[in-house]
Amino acid sequence: MRAAVVEEYGTPRLRDFPEPVASAGEVVVEVAAAGVNPVDVSKAAGTFYAGRARVPFVAGGEGVGRLADGRRVWFDQPVHPFGSMAERAAVLESGLLPVPDRLDDGVAVTLGIAGLAAWLPLSWRARVEPGETVLVLGATGVLGRIAVQGAKLLGAGRVVAAGRDAEALARAAELGADATVRFDGEVAGEDLTDAFRAAAGGSVDVVIDPLWGEPAAAALGALGPGGRLIQIGQSAGPLASIPSAAIRGKLAEIRGHTNFLVPPEEKAAAYAALCEHALAGRLTVDVERLPLSEVERAWERQRAGTGGTKLVLVP
Ligand SMILES: NC(=O)c1ccc[n+]([C@@H]2O[C@H](COP(=O)([O-])OP(=O)(O)OC[C@H]3O[C@@H](n4cnc5c(N)ncnc54)[C@H](OP(=O)(O)O)[C@@H]3O)[C@@H](O)[C@H]2O)c1
Repeated sequence: MRAAVVEEYGTPRLRDFPEPVASAGEVVVEVAAAGVNPVDVSKAAGTFYAGRARVPFVAGGEGVGRLADGRRVWFDQPVHPFGSMAERAAVLESGLLPVPDRLDDGVAVTLGIAGLAAWLPLSWRARVEPGETVLVLGATGVLGRIAVQGAKLLGAGRVVAAGRDAEALARAAELGADATVRFDGEVAGEDLTDAFRAAAGGSVDVVIDPLWGEPAAAALGALGPGGRLIQIGQSAGPLASIPSAAIRGKLAEIRGHTNFLVPPEEKAAAYAALCEHALAGRLTVDVERLPLSEVERAWERQRAGTGGTKLVLVP
């Protein structure tokens, strides 16, 4: 079959790869669409924080497809050396979630890794209360764009979208952000904390943080009493310098989030809620489909940043 194969750490290439065979607890999916995520780039580069996979392997951690019995599913647990960026993948049966018939393949993929990592930090890790103020860092990315809308759907009173890309911030405002903060290296430290507070109209209750680094440190300074920062990714850097008072003095909390450790019933409920909101037109995602043969271009685009548009590879 045709597949995007990582033969040496770096960029996957289109190659022939052996057909997957399912062992016990696994199933073969006919892939309709595979999502391109930052984690795929770091896994292919051999720099993923949780360890490196043995080469060769097929790239891609999530996709939407059909099982032999006709069921349409989203999956996120391909079995090494298989991956979603191929015509077929062997995946763990326990990780399958049903996809509603009327939902587009590309949208269904976008609501997977990115959608879950936007929604669950709000609903499950932060437990956003009606009326609370939510600051979304990286609101210019795919995850952040969903988090801005998710915060509103979960009852947040005020949502502030923050990021570097002015055009993508304008899109976040179109999609419901009440205020935006653009940071570009010149606005940093306490000035950035002040900009967050000004946009929030006071202190912030919940920070959705896919960035870490300088923006997360500044956002912690804007939290009010009982505030929570949910740490999801490190797009701005693996380290942040955080003064003790930013946490201690307000009983603030930093809570981690990884989709990998979410209880199955939480994950299924979150995915179903996201699909329902998308089908009802309450949640919008921007998707660009590329043929699998353009995997190398997709890698370049994902590395450079897609301005909040989800890239999806179609085998
Ligand atoms: N924990 C989990 O389970 C989980 C699941 C999904 C994703 N994630 C992580 O969440 C993050 C976002 O994912 P995504 O799908 O939204 O990716 P994406 O669409 O590529 O967005 C990346 C975001 O990071 C920002 N960014 C990149 N480099 C930056 C820098 N040096 N300083 C400040 N901002 C920077 C981009 O802002 P600009 O537009 O301004 O460049 C953009 O908002 C990634 O780190 C990803 O690994 C974690």
